[in-house]
Amino acid sequence: MKHHEQLWVLVALLILSMSCRDNQNKPENATTLKETFKDDFLIGTALSIDQINQTDARTDSLIKQQFNAITAENIMKAENIHPAWGQFDFDAADKFVAYGKQNDRYAVGHTLIWHSQLPSFVEAITDADSLRQFMDLHIGAVGQRYASSVAAWDVVNEALNEDGSWRESIFYRLLGEDYLVEAFRKAAEVAPDAALYYNDYNIEQPQKRAGTIRLIKKLQEAGVRIDGVGIQGHWHVDKLQLDAIEESILAYAELGVKVAITELDLTVLPNPWDLQGADVNQAFEGGVDMNPYANQLPDSVNQTLADSYEQLFRLFLKHRDKISRVTFWGVNDGQSWLNNWPIAGRTNYPLLFDRDNQPKAAFHRVIDIKKNTN
Ligand code: G3I
Repeated sequence: MKHHEQLWVLVALLILSMSCRDNQNKPENATTLKETFKDDFLIGTALSIDQINQTDARTDSLIKQQFNAITAENIMKAENIHPAWGQFDFDAADKFVAYGKQNDRYAVGHTLIWHSQLPSFVEAITDADSLRQFMDLHIGAVGQRYASSVAAWDVVNEALNEDGSWRESIFYRLLGEDYLVEAFRKAAEVAPDAALYYNDYNIEQPQKRAGTIRLIKKLQEAGVRIDGVGIQGHWHVDKLQLDAIEESILAYAELGVKVAITELDLTVLPNPWDLQGADVNQAFEGGVDMNPYANQLPDSVNQTLADSYEQLFRLFLKHRDKISRVTFWGVNDGQSWLNNWPIAGRTNYPLLFDRDNQPKAAFHRVIDIKKNTN
């Protein structure tokens, strides 16, 4: 090649590399969830113990790349963190908040008071005084330890039945409705800087929404702080009720609290007896027809999933001023609890990343909403 030809090749290469760099810097090329929605709401994920321990480098780098909020999927539940009266096992939770601090992530504590996953010593309590003492000790110890590292608490989880009445949990049976007020009062005392949430599933449905509104008003009338309500978002891909979700976002915001979508996933599998929701105590036997996509998700279902996620995120963006955070219940399809509930051992596809941590069509559709509106 002659000297002047070499020069032209060099100039061409230089122009090409500059244009590539420019493209990378353009907002439409921001392909992470947390970057894409940074002016709208936090984007979170639930972390399993393995993910907190960073045992898989590829999953860990995906978490760091995509999410700016993290929730402890299991390790802060009472049976794990408080296994015997007054004896706490803080190891995993300490690692969780350290992970949050090191990576500057918004850490969500899940959860202080929940009827499920209780240690056996609590299940054995039969009198109001002892239960009150447990609540005081538990919220006091856990809330105080993480007062500066947990940004938001699910203070009370799943206190309502589907018709909006109080769930007959041990807390309700022994302490009546006031356990709710006592829990939030104590949380506000020990974690004054944390945002305090009530968290539940199906509370976008009219009856349960009405119960949630009563619950929020009860706290407000008692002069006790509640900052937000967590709509869990365990929905079925074919049964999304966008109107009910929108009406709920509006109704909760009207009460002056923030709305978070706290445990988002969309099951694509058949539900036995048309089950809806997320009651972990329900379990069913499965047959082959209940696990139709054991090897692969058909493209048509993958597209329906993408459509549903797109509709949801369009709605969330419409109400971005009311929504503080959208958290997925897991990083990738392989991790999801929905592979084992309500039937154990199925293959579900409810999230935005597949079992190899690769983005699915739903991921691209969610990101594209912003590309096309900017
Ligand atoms: O860690 C043990 C392991 O040592 C043992 O070998 C194995 C055998 O079953 O169990 C493992 O514990 C399981 C744990 O998940 C960790 O994988 C429990 O059995 C299992 O019950 C537990 O399920 C969790 C469920 O809550 C109950 O706590 C799911 O991972 C978790 O995703 C789910 O999350 C709930 C929210 O907290 C509240 N809203 C509904 C949501 C979905 O159910």
